[in-house]
Amino acid sequence: MARNKQGQSGNQVTGRICVPSDVVIDVRNVSKRFGGLTAVNNCSLSVRRGSVTGLIGPNGAGKSTLFNIVAGNIVPDSGQIIFDGNDVTGLKPHELFRTGMLRTFQIAHEFSNMTALENLMMVPGDQPGEHITKAWFRPGLVKSRETEVRKKALDVIDFLKLGHVRNELAGNLSGGQKKLLELGRTMMVDAKVVLLDEVAAGVNKTLLNDLASNIERMNKELGYTFFVIEHDMDLIARLCDPVIVMAQGEKIAEGPMADIRANPAIVEAYFGSPVEVA
Ligand SMILES: Nc1ncnc2c1ncn2[C@@H]1O[C@H](COP(=O)(O)OP(=O)(O)O)[C@@H](O)[C@H]1O
Ligand SMILES: [Mg+2]
Repeated sequence: MARNKQGQSGNQVTGRICVPSDVVIDVRNVSKRFGGLTAVNNCSLSVRRGSVTGLIGPNGAGKSTLFNIVAGNIVPDSGQIIFDGNDVTGLKPHELFRTGMLRTFQIAHEFSNMTALENLMMVPGDQPGEHITKAWFRPGLVKSRETEVRKKALDVIDFLKLGHVRNELAGNLSGGQKKLLELGRTMMVDAKVVLLDEVAAGVNKTLLNDLASNIERMNKELGYTFFVIEHDMDLIARLCDPVIVMAQGEKIAEGPMADIRANPAIVEAYFGSPVEVA
């Protein structure tokens, strides 16, 4: 359903592309240069539907640039991004949002004066209430849509066990609660894929555990696919299969974390120097 909306956005849609049906994101030969620096170098990788796929690699490997390309924030110099069988290369983030892909975002400063619940209710786009003419002529429609959004927001709050802070201003939430709220915002639209770029950075171990178990529950109970950049290797090992390793703008390996950790060549590329592997 969401897929059809893409065709209405006025962007060129090149039609269905042939990819295995279990592939939800297919990155094909993507390159991006910043001046003389090649951040992403003819990189190809794919994310399987229903997986929690990890993306690791040393600083400067090109992970965030790749995410930004997938999320539509950066247009690649060459290559294609296929999302759910459609070529979405060059689509803007809000257009991708409608296709059912969503990147998490930081709680923007202006939202810190809204409650946790209101923050969630802000997320869905295309609400009739946003259009003054519709609101004027069809107040009933606006009201029922608002009720629906509120109900969904309450469900999300419940799922994340944030009920006790639902009326707290977002600005007053702890760092970990803000992260959960951020995750919750992805649940307000039925995103097929959630991209997380170091979402656990600066979160303490207890909250990290909370965040990780919510990601696991969203994946297992609600069927979300995750594509996760993370520095915390224990978190990657717990959550992700497969793990993709990037170095110097390219994918250098993919597999279960145990295999990645046991491969001296990968460990060397990752840490930049040989590491003894027992
Ligand atoms: N907007 C930009 N302008 C110039 N160089 C950039 C920009 N974004 C990233 N880079 C460079 O591209 C390379 C890859 O960066 P990045 O994708 O952030 O890597 P990672 O997320 O793996 O640490 C780095 O050398 C970085 O300095
Ligand atoms: Mg990065």
